[in-house]
Amino acid sequence: MTILITGGAGFIGSHFVRRMINQGKRVAVLDKLTYAGNLENLKDIIEDPKMSQQFKFYKGDIGNQEFVEHIFVEENIDTIANFAAESHVDRSIRSASNFIDTDMKGVFVLLEASRRFSLKKFIQISTDEVYGTAHQGAFKETDALNPSNPYSASKAGGDRLAYAYWVTYKLPIIITRASNNYGTNQHPEKFIPLFITNALEDKKLPLYGDGRQIRDWIHVEDHCAGIDFIMNHGQDGEVYNIGGGNERYNIDTAHLILDELKKPRSLIEHVKDREGHDRRYALDCSKLMLLGWKPRIKFENGLSDTIHWYRNNQVWWKRIKNGEFMEYYNKQYSHRFADTDVQQTH
Ligand code: NAD
Ligand code: TYD
Repeated sequence: MTILITGGAGFIGSHFVRRMINQGKRVAVLDKLTYAGNLENLKDIIEDPKMSQQFKFYKGDIGNQEFVEHIFVEENIDTIANFAAESHVDRSIRSASNFIDTDMKGVFVLLEASRRFSLKKFIQISTDEVYGTAHQGAFKETDALNPSNPYSASKAGGDRLAYAYWVTYKLPIIITRASNNYGTNQHPEKFIPLFITNALEDKKLPLYGDGRQIRDWIHVEDHCAGIDFIMNHGQDGEVYNIGGGNERYNIDTAHLILDELKKPRSLIEHVKDREGHDRRYALDCSKLMLLGWKPRIKFENGLSDTIHWYRNNQVWWKRIKNGEFMEYYNKQYSHRFADTDVQQTH
């Protein structure tokens, strides 16, 4: 039996693949290799004679029903962990179409195929962003969803569709909703790696609005451990929040990064805010903690390790931070910075 990890060449998916391989499981990865997918993230596994025996990579779209069913048959799949998604809020604001295709329709195709093939477990990786902004307190799994941008709305669609397949067809699904992840191999479009890599290049750090938005950061290894725990101890048809218990203002996180790199705080530039920017995310994780899981990595330590990784793996991110990325970066930020020549900004 094999676990199918969709989106396994992305940031979180690749960490989860490694975790499953290290446990001796057989893993198939289905990944479209969009701009965010990167086989470099799985290089150690692909190149290791022993680990590669447990691993098979399929390049393709989760929305391609025929291809998904072919993999089910070929690999004798009994479990899916669906990480595949368009994942960046700013890109969804620019253009939402791919988000609807993958985060909603793609989930539909996987659910339908799983129903036909009587899968034993379907883990839908959702997000805390489906709850929308947390004005006070922290969201419980039973709280209403109130997504406020095309990314979170399409994720909410996938989340609720998965739930409907449990209620209607008793497909054994579990839904996880994690908070903001950080760690190695995260695409430099996201806040923490963008700020680390810009600082390493002595470029300006574009902080949206007043920088007093709050995110609850969880280390990617803690997140993957949480999903693994839920696969083994969670109940079908249930939702589980996975938070870091670590709420920070964005501006404080930016200061931590600059201080660690010994770069001046003057690199921060407050720029025009994101449209519809959620002010705060916060999760109540008591449901999962009562089952026996908790995050282990302290933010300061995890962030410092992450910064070290980006410092030591410049080839990895410099390969990404050109071509398509710079085109996106210029579109996204040039009108935000005071100095419009973003690439040259110091
Ligand atoms: P990512 O963008 O780094 O990776 C996504 C992967 O999915 C890429 O490898 C990409 O090639 C692949 N993909 C995209 N569309 C596809 C398609 N149609 N078919 C097959 N593969 C496709 O994203 P990530 O940050 O690793 O997030 C993984 C999952 O976790 C997503 O579902 C995301 O919504 C969820 N999540 C992320 C965070 C976070 O902070 N990053 C927090 C909570 C939940
Ligand atoms: P991001 O990594 O895009 O994750 P999400 O929007 O899914 O939470 O952003 C994290 C926070 O950082 C969010 O409040 C937006 C902010 N941010 C900036 O201030 N500047 C940036 O250039 C980016 C990408 C994000």
